[in-house]
Amino acid sequence: MTGELVSTDTAPYPSRSALPAQAPGRPPVGDGIAADTGSWTFAGEVSKVFVDHVRHSVPLYEQAHVIACDLSSCFVGPMGLGYELGSSTGQLLRQLATHSEANAAARWIGIDREPSMTAAAIQHCRDLDNVECIQADITGYPLDTCDFVAAHLTLQFLPIDARARVARRVHDALRPGGAFFMCDKVLAPDARLEDLITTLHYRWKRRSGLSPEEILNKKESLLGVLQPITTSDNLAMLSQAGFTSIVSVVKNLCFEGFIAVK
Ligand SMILES: C[S@@+](CC[C@H](N)C(=O)[O-])C[C@H]1O[C@@H](n2cnc3c(N)ncnc32)[C@H](O)[C@@H]1O
Repeated sequence: MTGELVSTDTAPYPSRSALPAQAPGRPPVGDGIAADTGSWTFAGEVSKVFVDHVRHSVPLYEQAHVIACDLSSCFVGPMGLGYELGSSTGQLLRQLATHSEANAAARWIGIDREPSMTAAAIQHCRDLDNVECIQADITGYPLDTCDFVAAHLTLQFLPIDARARVARRVHDALRPGGAFFMCDKVLAPDARLEDLITTLHYRWKRRSGLSPEEILNKKESLLGVLQPITTSDNLAMLSQAGFTSIVSVVKNLCFEGFIAVK
């Protein structure tokens, strides 16, 4: 017996693309991306392999998209307005804008601060005239009155005080009866459970094709960049932002999505 994790599974998400070795000597974190401790970024070439990398890293990536779209159709009518905050390459934005007849008759705005991500989203949604992709920082961007806002794996990258301010701005921009879908990495309620869930998450990443070295390097690269909080802290933040009806709608290991209705 060795102490190694052994799996006969094949990777569920084969890579469609990989970056050429970008910076020899820098720690590889998977899918051809390299990043040093505390220096994870979505800038530059990452947009080219982002979809592969997130599929190899986040167990509920596609499941959360389906739930966000289904939820959106309960809140956005024809002529309505929806936002996606941190839209990256536009995967979710495109699905939101085409999910139903009413969604397709609404306007959808994706916001991301990275120029390369915004360019990729524009390209991905180029045939949809109800979609606009804006390069901006969501912490300062003024939202128009709207019906639905999605922030999928985005607020976790903001400092905690800025995250709370964005949640408040989203609440204030929503029409009464509108809703906010927020999905992020969460901490377990205690140290024993955090250790257990992290172990299972790393096993999942191994099965999805990442090496032990890439998994540990990615963890290092996210230090100080991605700051998860607990489920109860997320619920408290949404409640303090003004939302009165909040419930968890999706969870897989250390990732959890909430719907908060105004
Ligand atoms: C994990 S990705 C989001 C994935 C995307 N929502 C999806 O479902 O495919 C996080 C994105 O948030 C963006 N982001 C992080 N902080 C931001 C900020 N302050 N303003 C705008 N975008 C931000 C990053 O550039 C990145 O593209």
